[in-house]
Amino acid sequence: MIDFSTRYLGLKLNGPIVVSSTPLSESLDNIRRMEDVGASAIVLTSLFEEQLALESRALDEDLSRGTESFAESLDYLPDQSDYRMTQEVYLEHLRRAKAAVKIPIIASLNGNTVGGWVRFAREMESAGADAIELNTYALATDSSQTSSEIELRVLELVEKVCQEVKVPVSVKLSQSFTSLPHLVARLQDAGARGVVLFNRFYQPDFDIETLEVRPTLHFSTPSELLPRLHWAAILYGHLNIDLAITGGVHSAEDVLKSIMAGANMTMMASALHIHGIEHIGRVLSDMQYWLEKREYTSLWETRGCLSRRSVPDTSPFDRGNYIKTLSSYSLRQTVAAF
Ligand SMILES: Cc1cc2nc3c(=O)[nH]c(=O)nc-3n(C[C@H](O)[C@H](O)[C@H](O)COP(=O)(O)O)c2cc1C
Repeated sequence: MIDFSTRYLGLKLNGPIVVSSTPLSESLDNIRRMEDVGASAIVLTSLFEEQLALESRALDEDLSRGTESFAESLDYLPDQSDYRMTQEVYLEHLRRAKAAVKIPIIASLNGNTVGGWVRFAREMESAGADAIELNTYALATDSSQTSSEIELRVLELVEKVCQEVKVPVSVKLSQSFTSLPHLVARLQDAGARGVVLFNRFYQPDFDIETLEVRPTLHFSTPSELLPRLHWAAILYGHLNIDLAITGGVHSAEDVLKSIMAGANMTMMASALHIHGIEHIGRVLSDMQYWLEKREYTSLWETRGCLSRRSVPDTSPFDRGNYIKTLSSYSLRQTVAAF
């Protein structure tokens, strides 16, 4: 029997597959099934900064009914119905999820500005969250905003959330930071215990008939795993911070590659939407078969073996890879031409 146990954010996990933030975990029945088939933790869907702002404005409105400013101040916020849960419903669901299973339940807070709403992290902790995942999804659309301003804002936010709670905090990052190793080192200084690589970048689609810009959500494919592997392999072993991979993890091979790159664990969302929650069990037994065949006794013997610091030739992670990849393509083209 292969030992799959691992640690993430100081929590003991019984395996390398965690359920990523997805509406699947809005049902307690699903949460129990996730535990039964081998999920080692569950990240709940996010509660959004905008949602908390909306609710606190609604409360202000109740307290000072008759003022004109409330409706105007809501103009820039999405409609209440755009959110899946109110804060009370979220906290109640968190309490019930905790009572329903033994595996860790990680609450998810999604926002990108420092504000009073970060206090909600404490309420998540009081409701029983074993950890908090902070999703800092933001896009730079203002040409006067510098990359260091954006990073500073993320760091301040992380610091504030870490000050609010005693439970560990991880940060779900976007892929587009100029110097990711430097940012991750500073996140560690700000109190983060882990980073989740990476948020997916949801681009809207254009409808050329109606001239509308529409939100789209496609499930991931395993090809999205490659940049995550690349960055986990670069970060592994340099810092005292845990690494989780989300994005493109669909099969046993994807989980094994992620651990070999240096991740503490992997997360799944799309694969569960496509194949069902039981997919976790199938992936774990495929991994078991693969590892036993090669006489491993524990998954962790493989951890980081393909990281940048473990391989003799680091060029695949650096500029060398770029040159080799491009020149190998033109060689093939030349051969085909003759
Ligand atoms: C339907 C759906 C809803 C999601 N909702 C959230 C969310 O509320 N908060 C969050 O941080 N990520 C959310 N995600 C992103 C996933 O947690 C995950 O990071 C992403 O889908 C990449 O993993 P995958 O390739 O396994 O899907 C959502 C994904 C899907 C498919």
